[in-house]
Amino acid sequence: MQRTLRFLLVLVAGLGLLAAAGYFALASITRSWFEADMELRSRLAVTSAGRTLDRRWGGDRHELTETLTDITRDERIMAAAACSPTGETLASTEAYPSMFTCESIRGQSGDSRAWTTTADLPSGRVHVTAVPVGDGPTRHGSVVLVHDLSFLSRREATTRNVLLVAFFTLALGAAVITLVAARLAWRGWTLELRQALAGGGTAEFQPLLRDVRSLAERLASEREYDARTGLWSPERLRSTLTQHLSGERLVVLANREPYIHEKTPTGVTVLHPASGLVTALEPVMRACSGVWVAHGAGSADRETVDSRDHVAVPPGEESYVLRRVWMTEAEENGYYYGFANEGLWPLCHVAHTRPIFRVGDWEHYVRVNRKFADAVCDEVDSDDPIILVQDYHFALAPKMIRERLPRATILSFWHIPWPNAERIGICPWHDEIIAGLLGSSIVGFHTQQHCNNFIDSVDAFMESRIDREANAVVQSSRKTLVRAYPISIEWPVHWLTDIASIEECRASVRRDLGLSDDALLGVGVDRLDYTKGIEERLLAVDELLTRHPEFRGRFTFAQLGAPSRTKIGRYRELNDRIEELAAEINRKWEHVGGNRPIALLRAHHEPPDVYRYLRAAHVCYVSSLHDGMNLVAKEFVAARDDERGVLVLSQFTGAARDLPEALVVNPYDVGQAGDALAAALRMSPEEQQERMHAMRRLVSEFNVYRWAGRMLVDAAETRRRDRMFGRLSAPTRSGRSVGT
Ligand code: G6P
Repeated sequence: MQRTLRFLLVLVAGLGLLAAAGYFALASITRSWFEADMELRSRLAVTSAGRTLDRRWGGDRHELTETLTDITRDERIMAAAACSPTGETLASTEAYPSMFTCESIRGQSGDSRAWTTTADLPSGRVHVTAVPVGDGPTRHGSVVLVHDLSFLSRREATTRNVLLVAFFTLALGAAVITLVAARLAWRGWTLELRQALAGGGTAEFQPLLRDVRSLAERLASEREYDARTGLWSPERLRSTLTQHLSGERLVVLANREPYIHEKTPTGVTVLHPASGLVTALEPVMRACSGVWVAHGAGSADRETVDSRDHVAVPPGEESYVLRRVWMTEAEENGYYYGFANEGLWPLCHVAHTRPIFRVGDWEHYVRVNRKFADAVCDEVDSDDPIILVQDYHFALAPKMIRERLPRATILSFWHIPWPNAERIGICPWHDEIIAGLLGSSIVGFHTQQHCNNFIDSVDAFMESRIDREANAVVQSSRKTLVRAYPISIEWPVHWLTDIASIEECRASVRRDLGLSDDALLGVGVDRLDYTKGIEERLLAVDELLTRHPEFRGRFTFAQLGAPSRTKIGRYRELNDRIEELAAEINRKWEHVGGNRPIALLRAHHEPPDVYRYLRAAHVCYVSSLHDGMNLVAKEFVAARDDERGVLVLSQFTGAARDLPEALVVNPYDVGQAGDALAAALRMSPEEQQERMHAMRRLVSEFNVYRWAGRMLVDAAETRRRDRMFGRLSAPTRSGRSVGT
């Protein structure tokens, strides 16, 4: 308040000074205007009495005095005198001041111009004008008019007062407006900043400023693009395909299949695997149709395919084809469990699990990549198809496909982080991995950081030219673009169409877990993988209860964990450790009574069940130690059409760049994460809504159709350029290219 007053005073004083300067300038201008006015009036008075003066000049002095008295009837003319050219006073009115004798004025009005002066008399200030009477030879002398200037002082005083009041009012008005505008701007700015930094009572769980800035830049440029082209939807993706790719069918290569047929005691059942890749890609395939080439891993998969190993999916909808590729157990062990998941997975994630590279695994990896590349080539319907290769299972496939289909447009997307060059150098076959990916037309990553790491790796290990401005690698005149395409989920999520209300979901989850009706609920949903930071998450729950006793017996964290890659020792270890830790924490707080802190649900959960938990939760904690994107964070946002619930999110996920409104934490700092859980549980409904609303807006706009759409538009553009530069011939009407 004091600061405001001080600011106001300084502002008014400054403006007052300006007003005073303005007043003096204006006063001198108006005074000169008045004097000019005075001279004009004198001339007019003498001219209008001209004839009478002429007639009476040489005659009766009494009559001349009468004429002069007539002239002084003008209220501003005090007195007048008639002077001969020789300086004799011919006549004068009563009040004529004696100090202005005709003698003293003589000669001053000799020419035809009026002579003027001002003087201070005891009665006040006067203005004296001697106006010549007659012209040339008929020149008689002059009439001296004395003007009362006291009115001028009065007028000046009035003007001054009006001016001062006006300037003061103006100064005060300007000061207040400036103050209000400055206050509003400051408040808006701080509010924006606070919101951007997830402020309020939760200022310590801020996203990295760098991420907020880059998100803001991305949003600005991409929203501008969207304003011109509209939001992405399945329809728009379909029409993009028709427009840019003449409706050709897409061929996708991904290890994990979107539908797994499993034998159960009651018959064959279809499972939806827990996989971020599948979550993202499946809606895209439903929108675009085409073929998904994947490993047939289900126990009933062979029974459900046709003679070409095809099965139409989704069951009941049948909008695209799933082509299953079979592997021997040895192949699966070497390629999938070995090289991909014991080698590349820990290599690419900074989660402190040592990568293991075995020659045998590598050989399987090469062989299986070849097998899948061949399957892809069997599925294409032209010799310049568009092929989407997914993830670290198929680093070699792009080059292998290119060898068979040199005209193909191959888009590879790496769903996990790409490490720095030094780290990738740990892999004994890093050259082959990078060269394999460079068989692509475009290599995509979630973040620009991963793109930069990839380009640095190419620079460090490959013979190539790097076009850093275009983010491209050129090898023997073939270009590979390196681009960031942050992945997302479908919007709206089809699993949510018929889902129960938030209250029903919450009540049923509490019932299922045996919790009280007022239990506060936290949720985590993951494959049981050491990169997800599940141990740190459970420890954060323990910290929450240690540091914030009010939540003891009131809060339960439900961890949905889908067993994953359990053939690998490290994953089995993790399963055991999590089981023990959950039991240990529950035991520790047993004495409190009420709800147990942790409900560990180690099982595969189908999407409707996952969404039921996400809707029931008061808080969702995603604590990955390192994650390319993490789509559970975005699924939680999609699930909350009530705009409630708080997301606590690890700063080491790609998602933290897209969702700065989450409470962003360092999962290794379990104290900080515990405090974040407390802040989430205490957060006002208004703040929850504000944050959730902003996140929902982003995810709805930056959905998976945009992810796929932008990649496909870039792929189509690459192909158009390739064709234009003559390396490819134009397609025939059937969509096939004629040979070169
Ligand atoms: C990550 C990988 C995916 C993989 C998923 C599930 O998201 O990037 O490629 O499908 O994990 O793992 P899984 O080994 O079960 O396919």
